[in-house]
Amino acid sequence: MDIDTANRRTAIVTGAAHGIGAATARRLSADGFAVAVLDLDEYACKSVVAEIDAGGGRALAVGADVTDEQAVARAVARVAEDLGSPTVLVNNAGILRDNLLFKMSAADWDSVMDVHLRGAFLMSRAAQQHMVAAGWGRIVNTSSTSAQGNRGQANYAAAKAGIQGFTKTLAIELGKFGITVNAIAPGFIETAMNVATAKRVGMTFEDFRSAAVAKIPVGRAGQPADVAAATSFFVRDDARYVSGQVLYVAGGPYD
Ligand code: NAI
Repeated sequence: MDIDTANRRTAIVTGAAHGIGAATARRLSADGFAVAVLDLDEYACKSVVAEIDAGGGRALAVGADVTDEQAVARAVARVAEDLGSPTVLVNNAGILRDNLLFKMSAADWDSVMDVHLRGAFLMSRAAQQHMVAAGWGRIVNTSSTSAQGNRGQANYAAAKAGIQGFTKTLAIELGKFGITVNAIAPGFIETAMNVATAKRVGMTFEDFRSAAVAKIPVGRAGQPADVAAATSFFVRDDARYVSGQVLYVAGGPYD
């Protein structure tokens, strides 16, 4: 690895203590990145960091709430200090507060907007200075097939559609600095998030998954590693001409 490449090899993955974020942190480590495993609770990040360390990679557990402007600034500065300038950012942290419109509280609307949109905004704004200085960067945002509308998810669908507009705008603004910005829109991926949804709609997880799989052309549920593989592509150096795109990782077509 030459010096220039070495300088580009620090990634931050938000919401990386569990699920898709954890798989993405592992994948980026396998791809040769030092990885900041960022989540609400630093302690919860330790097992992913330990796994990466055991595999010979470099990782750092970072506790931060992506909706908190000061915490985000501190977290990004700490990553720069301890791992090197972050030139890859994966905005993956997310929450659900599902309900039908007439039962949805304003607090549930606000918290979903805050984590997905404000969180991606604050993290991207803090990290871009390192990317601009390096003349190279990669931002990967997490949308969802729900961006196209999903019953009980007015807040989440609006946030995930918003992520697509945010992605395209950053791609336009940051392209001239060697920074690409893309979004991944996963379909049904087996994580704690879907276990919670099954519970909310009163189904066992197995029945919920079977109902989802029946509609998926490839005939299986997605795994966190399926999403991580798409991120791995977007952050490659030779993906430099791919920007402002939304890639559906859903086992079938969406547009
Ligand atoms: P998950 O619930 O397993 O992981 C989400 C992580 O985000 C958790 O570790 C949580 O602690 C963290 N987080 C939540 N709020 C945070 C905050 N304010 N600051 C920092 N970290 C915070 O969920 P999963 O399934 O891995 O989801 C990851 C992303 O993928 C989310 O953006 C989600 O909306 C999206 N997604 C998931 C799909 C699925 O089927 N599982 C489908 C489409 C999109």
